Amino acid sequence: MSSPAVDFATQNHPRFLNELKDLLRIPSISTLPEHKDDCRRAAEFLASELKRIGMENVRLIDTSGHPLVYGDWLHAGGKPTVLIYGHYDVQPTDPIDEWLSPPFEPAERNGNIYARGAVDDKGQVWMQVKALEALLASNKSLPLNVRVIFEGEEEVGGEGIAEYVASKPANLKSDFALVSDTELFAPGLPTLCVGLRGMIYTELEVRGAKTDLHSGMYGGAAPNPFTAIAQIIARLKDDNGHILIPGFYDDIIPPSSEELAAWKSLPFDEEHYRISEVGSRQLVGEDGYSVLERTWARPTLDVHGIPGGFIGAGAKTVIPAKAVAKVSMRLVPGMTPAKAFAQYKSYVEKIAPAGVDVEVRLIHSGDPCLIPVNNKYIQAATHALHEVWGKDTVFIRSGGSIPIVGDFDRHLGLPSVMMGFGLPDDNIHAPNEKFSLQNFELGIRSLIRFLEEAGR
Ligand code: BES
Ligand code: MN
Ligand code: MN
Repeated sequence: MSSPAVDFATQNHPRFLNELKDLLRIPSISTLPEHKDDCRRAAEFLASELKRIGMENVRLIDTSGHPLVYGDWLHAGGKPTVLIYGHYDVQPTDPIDEWLSPPFEPAERNGNIYARGAVDDKGQVWMQVKALEALLASNKSLPLNVRVIFEGEEEVGGEGIAEYVASKPANLKSDFALVSDTELFAPGLPTLCVGLRGMIYTELEVRGAKTDLHSGMYGGAAPNPFTAIAQIIARLKDDNGHILIPGFYDDIIPPSSEELAAWKSLPFDEEHYRISEVGSRQLVGEDGYSVLERTWARPTLDVHGIPGGFIGAGAKTVIPAKAVAKVSMRLVPGMTPAKAFAQYKSYVEKIAPAGVDVEVRLIHSGDPCLIPVNNKYIQAATHALHEVWGKDTVFIRSGGSIPIVGDFDRHLGLPSVMMGFGLPDDNIHAPNEKFSLQNFELGIRSLIRFLEEAGR
């Protein structure tokens, strides 16, 4: 049940939490160029802690973007090797006015720690580091061989780590991966995530006139790129949420009947989800599919922003010369980013209204993934989780994406164990992101026990 490492973690919990707060104070927003140095600082913070706890060969690995953090400990002869993954980069903080406490000044309230990155993913990365510290401190060794790789570009597509994994697979040679960047299906319910959606993130640029025009002088004769972009967007999906791109659904591999049956028995209350998580008048989406199927096993298309034109206070009568829309699609098993993008691009070019030019750009992409569950690592995980949480593990998918997980399988041949401890209402990517302090503590315990079991 317990172990010296678990006891070490319990005794040192207040210090672990204070250290996490220091990490959370670094505004490592990967998408904003002005935070480039902060991303490196977060990487250095992790590297110096990995060194301090006794990991070896610790270093930053430079990429085309933000650095990777690597460390290893490979002295458990005859034992398997785990590749531990997480990301230190975070999402932007807007809308900043809606935060009850500043995003980079971690605050404890009602059993949670609030900060950008609290659960996605600094808090979970810190659980991994603290599990390793507890094991090393209490045993002077680890129960299995460990490689650690943290990235700082997950939230922007993970290009740097993808290049590294594809070009230097031998440097990460392992037997399985441990990914802590997902959530429990419900509070107190031990959960392993076994599937993620992939994605393509695109920009649509529509150009009309050669320059901005007076809408009185030219309105009626000159094309309006905002109207055109609205027409294009309106033709991407029908009223039922079905995507109209020809061939888009052709290659989908649907979930097995066993998986669908398992999803039906999960404790899911659609009204609670609608009211407490979404907070909308009604839910939308494809008829004939449950909410879990819609978000886990069906592709979707969303518009994230339409920057450009006149957005100041008051009124300006202008026909802007160009409009841009940021549009992404989530992909499910069977689909590939390259094919989905080609289908989308040629459809958009076809439906663009007369008088405008459109350019369709791919910003980043990632493959969907499905994880095999018939292996000893998943068994070790469910065993450890049962000890710590007193319940059987549920297997879920997630609608989110972690682009590198598919590459771990394709380039390194690794099955991943996606053991994360967020909660559905943790507000990731939104104001007031939080992490349950109880989950932080039980998460560390779960990771310790999992690594011990995986090395038995
Ligand atoms: N940790 C999330 C993915 C996630 C969310 C997994 C919820 C399980 C439950 C990750 O940090 C994330 O937000 N990924 C981005 C990736 C994208 C920018 C390529 C996403 O899903 O939008
Ligand atoms: Mn994440
Ligand atoms: Mn995220």
